[in-house]
Amino acid sequence: MRMQPGMPQHVGPPGYPQAGYPQQPVSMDLNPHAPIPGRIVVAGLSKQFKAVRAVDNLSFTVEPGTVTGFLGPNGAGKTTTLRMLLGLMTATTGVATIGGQFYANLPNPIRIVGASLEASSFHLARTGRNHLRILAAAAGLPERRCDEVIDMVGITPAAKRKVKTYSMGMKQRLALATAMLGDPHVLILDEPTNGLDPEGIRWIRHFLRALASQGRTVLVSSHMLAEVSQTVDDVVIIAQGRSVRQGKVAELIGQAHSYVRVRTTQVEQLMTLLGEKAQMRRTAANELCIDNMPSTEVGKIAYGNGLEVEELTTVQSDLEEVFLQLTHGGAGIR
Ligand SMILES: Nc1ncnc2c1ncn2[C@@H]1O[C@H](COP(=O)(O)OP(=O)(O)O)[C@@H](O)[C@H]1O
Ligand SMILES: [Mg+2]
Repeated sequence: MRMQPGMPQHVGPPGYPQAGYPQQPVSMDLNPHAPIPGRIVVAGLSKQFKAVRAVDNLSFTVEPGTVTGFLGPNGAGKTTTLRMLLGLMTATTGVATIGGQFYANLPNPIRIVGASLEASSFHLARTGRNHLRILAAAAGLPERRCDEVIDMVGITPAAKRKVKTYSMGMKQRLALATAMLGDPHVLILDEPTNGLDPEGIRWIRHFLRALASQGRTVLVSSHMLAEVSQTVDDVVIIAQGRSVRQGKVAELIGQAHSYVRVRTTQVEQLMTLLGEKAQMRRTAANELCIDNMPSTEVGKIAYGNGLEVEELTTVQSDLEEVFLQLTHGGAGIR
């Protein structure tokens, strides 16, 4: 099979299935614990580190054929969750399975799950290619597979250089090549866009979409919703170890809208004047946000009734703001 640079291909060792994985995303209504190949199930998962409840009763499923964003501010518990999923850490309570099995029980894990947890965990004096060769040899994969994944992630010119000469973006690509080595059905990537420039982020977006369109399961964490919003189908958003929102990213994007913010010492009077037809939220003692009226109309009512207005602004709420609201403005940082 001829390789197309930059696009993931099924090019596993002889005997490994070349055909696509099931293409249809599985309905979310089905029993989430059914052992569907490639389905990730996290159920009632918690992790306690002494005083810190890093993950707190977290449940979600990730379906084959989709890219799911696992989002939350720094310290929210993303890496801890992924480490439990990958059998690198025991859970305090709950379970995390892949295709209905614990990672530790998977028969040939490198062929089923590819993961990158930290781009910095490479042996710096080794070349990128040698790093892959060692892993390939240990897993019984042919050496040519190393060149295939190197080509796939676009680091061929740097493959024979020592990793210590790599930029952060190149290390991220090498981490992705490592994850792809066994042509796995499931990809679990921790903050793969960290350190990538906009071109790199665009590239990884296409890469992950292509993996999902082949029927693979892609779970990708990020502390920046905006960085992955165009890549993911579904989101699982956590703050302080707890789930705060799960669903389609399209629904979240639909929630980003503009609204009018008024600062006045006479909030109650303004609320009365605006009346029942106004959809409004009091966001501080002297601040009111109105979702369904233009600022001109709010201004006319306020000034027309002699209210003292300190500020009247139309706020363009973007995705990042929705994210900050959901995660309490970064209060999850620990
Ligand atoms: N090995 C550990 N021992 C003690 N606390 C930890 C350990 N690993 C993570 N934590 C704490 O658990 C919380 C979640 O961390 P982490 O999972 O790394 O978050 P994220 O990946 O979302 O940034 C943080 O408060 C962090 O300090
Ligand atoms: Mg992390």
